[in-house]
Amino acid sequence: MFDYKKDFPILNQKIVYLDTAASAQKPLAVIDAMSDFIKHDYANIHRGIYDLSQRASDRYESARETVKKFINARNTDEVIFTHGGTESANLVAYSYGREFLREGDEVVITELEHHANIVPWQVLRKEKGIKLSVVPIDADGSIPIEKFKTAISDKTKIVSFAHVSNVLGTILPVKEITALAHAVGAVAVVDACQSVQHLPIDVQNTDADFLFFSGHKLYGPTGIGVLYVKRALLEKMPPYQTGGGMISSVSFDETLYAEAPLRFEAGTPPIIEAIGLQAAMNYVKNIGLDKIAAHEHSILKYADEKLSLIPGLKILSNAGKKSAIVSFVIENIHSHDAGTILNNYGVAVRAGHHCAQPLMDSLGVSSTVRASFGLYSAMEDVDALAAGIYEAKKIFGN
Ligand code: ALA
Repeated sequence: MFDYKKDFPILNQKIVYLDTAASAQKPLAVIDAMSDFIKHDYANIHRGIYDLSQRASDRYESARETVKKFINARNTDEVIFTHGGTESANLVAYSYGREFLREGDEVVITELEHHANIVPWQVLRKEKGIKLSVVPIDADGSIPIEKFKTAISDKTKIVSFAHVSNVLGTILPVKEITALAHAVGAVAVVDACQSVQHLPIDVQNTDADFLFFSGHKLYGPTGIGVLYVKRALLEKMPPYQTGGGMISSVSFDETLYAEAPLRFEAGTPPIIEAIGLQAAMNYVKNIGLDKIAAHEHSILKYADEKLSLIPGLKILSNAGKKSAIVSFVIENIHSHDAGTILNNYGVAVRAGHHCAQPLMDSLGVSSTVRASFGLYSAMEDVDALAAGIYEAKKIFGN
């Protein structure tokens, strides 16, 4: 039987946690790995000549090796540790984008994007006169590949898209979209923040040029993210932030930068968090992403069936291929009210625009209620959600 709730101490309390897409809870394996590291091996890295610093540096670099294997990168240099998914997205735009985009160039994104994959490109639009082209969704929340074919042209230099939508759970075909980008000489940027914890990532197989995610949605700690960059691109990219740790030499006249990935890791990096992320990846790998995906799929199917029977409830996440998220609105009940009432019954969901306001506009709503699942989710959680919705309907008299 697939039951890992016991690995998550926080879930011992009375809570039905259905907000994993916002942040996943942490298993003991992650908590212990970080705590042991702090107790026995912690020091700043790449700076000390003493044993402890050397040991901490080795542990940090072994975490990079774990990430490399997890996403099947060719080598560890292609793995940059950032402070989160959002910083990774900003790094792509402000290092690669600022260096290589020219006036009139096009960046293609989709209507499904999180603000983190919209706003940095808008800043570049203002700064450099680039064009932002948006691939629209279908009514069910999917995007047929033909729509990408229409949007991508010889003016396109970057195609940047979510692997999985944080609002609708829609899964986009990374390999096909990347191939379309490459056919016109553009690069593909994949936002894997909502996929890395549910689906296998293989950057060599998909041939993605950039791929990013945060640690905390993958059962790891907050404060760490990953940016994968294909080596050929990495070598041409200027630093995004400057300071200690990213140089090879500094004088008042001239500074020479370190090679990647350190060139992109200015300042003290998230050392303890890298150890936590490594433990999270090992934890997920030991269970098996295929088993996790199958479990979450059965929960999702159950949720879709159960919620669709509730009168006045409209599910907005209806793409044929989707992952671990159900987003809905309830007639005559504002999403925030629904979220507050669910909270009174111990059910934690996210209600609002989910940092995807343009998508809300396309869906014709101002907000949704979103229930999102993880490897610890269970059918009973869905039952509690449905029961809470019936209570909300009673309170609102519908
Ligand atoms: N991006 C996170 C979410 O979708 C915070 O909730």
